[in-house]
Amino acid sequence: MKKALGLVAMMVLVMAGIESCKHEPEEEVQLTETITAVSTADTCSLDTVYFVNDILPIISSNCAMSGCHDADTKSDGVDLSTYDKIIATGDIKPGDADGSDLYEVLVESDPDKIMPPPPATLTPEQKNAIKIWINQGAKNNKCTNKCDTSNVTFSVNVWPIIDATCRGCHAGANASGGVRITNYNQVKAIVDNGDLANVLGRQGPKKPMPPGGPIEKCASDQIRIWIAEGAKDN
Ligand code: HEC
Repeated sequence: MKKALGLVAMMVLVMAGIESCKHEPEEEVQLTETITAVSTADTCSLDTVYFVNDILPIISSNCAMSGCHDADTKSDGVDLSTYDKIIATGDIKPGDADGSDLYEVLVESDPDKIMPPPPATLTPEQKNAIKIWINQGAKNNKCTNKCDTSNVTFSVNVWPIIDATCRGCHAGANASGGVRITNYNQVKAIVDNGDLANVLGRQGPKKPMPPGGPIEKCASDQIRIWIAEGAKDN
């Protein structure tokens, strides 16, 4: 009797094993109306992949089309039309891209299983964006001010940052550390002697600036690019 029970238990386990190897997600996983709210960041971090800005456009134009994974067709039970449905039917494990069906099918070597079906394909950059987004927690997030690092100029980008974050302590007769930062030539001087990159980078040997904490990542990226492009008075 005991043996028979053991056998039944084993068969159940084996069947469950077979079941979990299948690519199809479990039937209708939590498709009730729990709609996950979007969290919005005011500034886009260059290190973060955002669902609304970066991922949804890829999925909408490559997967959630009519006849494929839209809400009506749900090919293979997979509906990629909204954040909640993508998480549920794409079988996403936040933090684990390699264990998530949505990513697995992109890097699948079996031509019958790879998605989108050949000859259509995602670019390596698009696949990587999906991977990073899942590994960063597969959040329903978006940002409103994408950091613009193209065409960075002194007058439009660099000076407003410095004016707002440095000039308060670095102007007038008592300028901190004897360093005056009130116009282009003075900024250029601390670019040329390496101090600007050094104080913003906060790695020493100069004192980290501003003393209270780092400037926004986007601002420091823009300054870094402006320096790399010759620190012009543009
Ligand atoms: C709250 C005041 C304050 C702000 C804001 C500030 N600084 Fe300073 N800064 C100081 C002080 C104080 C020193 C002198 C530190 C020392 O020598 O101990 C200094 C020193 C410096 C030096 C010389 C560093 C060295 O070790 O020789 C540079 C360059 C500099 N700051 C750049 C900046 C830049 C660029 C910003 C804006 C991103 C900035 N600072 C914002 C207070 C400030």
